[in-house]
Amino acid sequence: MLITRHAEAEAVLADTRYVPPPVRQDGAEGTLAWLRAHVSRFSTGEPHAERRRALTDLLDGVDPAELREQARAMTVQRRGDWRGVPTDVLATALGVADTSAVPAAAAGYLSGEESPRADAAVAELLTQAGLPAITLLLQGYAATEGLIENALERARPGDDVDALLHETLAWHPPLKATRRLDTLTGDEVTIDLVTANREAPHSHVTFGHGVRPCPAPAHALALAAGVLEGVLG
Ligand code: HEM
Repeated sequence: MLITRHAEAEAVLADTRYVPPPVRQDGAEGTLAWLRAHVSRFSTGEPHAERRRALTDLLDGVDPAELREQARAMTVQRRGDWRGVPTDVLATALGVADTSAVPAAAAGYLSGEESPRADAAVAELLTQAGLPAITLLLQGYAATEGLIENALERARPGDDVDALLHETLAWHPPLKATRRLDTLTGDEVTIDLVTANREAPHSHVTFGHGVRPCPAPAHALALAAGVLEGVLG
């Protein structure tokens, strides 16, 4: 089933009858499959609540205003070459020194596509950090860079960075859809975030809604705003 109406999107995202499509639980320890079986994003019920709490506790110690300033400074220092800046700034705030494995691990994290390369990337990250910090880096990676890309495509000289970002979030979200399993019927449900947003751009569902919305919209926006300030001057 495809959900395109804003009210229905919110209703599905707020109803525990709909869960993320289950992921395999039998991956060997330290692999991508094992990681996906242990993160908040793909869990339900009490494990989800507990794992999500670990993320929000960690995020509480990271000040979005500092992320913004560091993202701006790093972008300027790298002469506008902003790719990787959001991840590097967030990683530093989380105490993770080497982010070179993030892109390969992030590529399989949402899709579930397993590969020796993705497994090696996850293993490398596990030598440096615990699951909550790794989850934040992998969740944030593509979405934050996607938001920056979409905003830069529309940027005009003199634009207010925060207004540009809010408009981009409402009309050009970096994540176009999210999926759920209907536990009553067994049907798979796809929520089309782009179409749902068009009906109510001022209360967009770009950061999700209900049971498991993005726990880090302020952090994501701060990272993106800092990069844009660094690029646009
Ligand atoms: C523009 C950037 C971002 C967007 C648009 C975005 C959007 C989303 C959305 C829509 C979800 C919910 C998925 C669903 O309901 O199926 C989500 C979940 C999540 N996001 Fe973000 N996100 C962004 C950046 C970030 C960043 C920078 C972080 C980390 C600091 C982060 C961490 C997470 C986590 C951990 C979850 C899973 C929450 C849970 O399992 O309960 N996101 N995000």
